[in-house]
Amino acid sequence: TDKIDHIGIVVPNIEKALEHYKNVFNKIGSKPIISETQNVKISFIEFSNIKLELIEPISEKSPISNFLKKNPLGGMHHIGLEVDDLNNTYSDAKNNDLEPLSKPVKGYHGRDLFFLHPKKMMNTLFEILSKN
Ligand code: CO
Repeated sequence: TDKIDHIGIVVPNIEKALEHYKNVFNKIGSKPIISETQNVKISFIEFSNIKLELIEPISEKSPISNFLKKNPLGGMHHIGLEVDDLNNTYSDAKNNDLEPLSKPVKGYHGRDLFFLHPKKMMNTLFEILSKN
């Protein structure tokens, strides 16, 4: 493992959240993009050492929409950990009974990724992603 790439934060309204970050930290996020496969809108806010990934579900079908029901104000959702060799990390995770939620898949950002089951990670959801 190498570095924390981003922290994923679920928000109820991405435009309002972007406005808020602008007002509070004077940070301008990226123009929101839509991931059709995940049914979410996503924007990144870059800090010098890490990015925040704002995520707004746009459909009941989104895996994120249940999270927002339980946390109507939004909240911290996952940690994005970048690794040198994703396939190797995936094998290690399986061998160590960490229960990856899926095989590595291509993310909206073009990088391969998989998630680890939070029950095996002290109730914290980890997105493991490739360097590029
Ligand atoms: Co993420």
